[in-house]
Amino acid sequence: MASSPPSWNRTQEPFAELISAEAIAARVAELGAQITRDYEGRSSTDIVVIGVLKGSVIFLADLVRHIAAPIFVDFIGISSYGDATVSSGVVQITQDLSRPIEGKHVIVVEDIVDTGHTVHYLLENLGTRRPATVALCSLLHKPERSERDIKIDYLGFTIPNKFVVGYGLDISQQYRNLPFIGYVQGAG
Ligand code: IMP
Repeated sequence: MASSPPSWNRTQEPFAELISAEAIAARVAELGAQITRDYEGRSSTDIVVIGVLKGSVIFLADLVRHIAAPIFVDFIGISSYGDATVSSGVVQITQDLSRPIEGKHVIVVEDIVDTGHTVHYLLENLGTRRPATVALCSLLHKPERSERDIKIDYLGFTIPNKFVVGYGLDISQQYRNLPFIGYVQGAG
């Protein structure tokens, strides 16, 4: 018999819930349906969904199950933050794609666009590999922090300027497995 996941003892964790697991699930299903509609008619070898490690992994896992089309899934590792909660603007690829994307329809899946430096760098880099098209799907966007003009084709939620954790997002590599998105109380 399936058992339900353990409940987090929220009184012992310094997080306030910002977006519930239910709200995330509903929005992810909508995004998947929208992507399915937009990419209808593409050949089955054409669509590559690229997850940006590690923050997008949980979002991507849920999202691709709502895309009703054959796709490839690949991952790219990007580091921009270290363990701090402030963007350094310094970005590097720590793990590259496993296959070329030339001629492919690429959908980049990010956890959050904060200052926009990471995604700006990534989209420029991927663009040099001659994909047919590149679209950006991000679960979260913090427009108040924006330092780059980034077009997000598929956006889950716009959030206030708070440091958030859960559903893939971490603080010092922890709490990625929170089923909801919370913010660190007292932090900006
Ligand atoms: P940007 O380059 O400032 O847009 O930051 C992008 C990356 O920083 C994201 O992919 C996250 O890994 C991380 N990041 C930005 N804001 C947050 C947050 O509120 N919580 C957790 N990680 C964040």
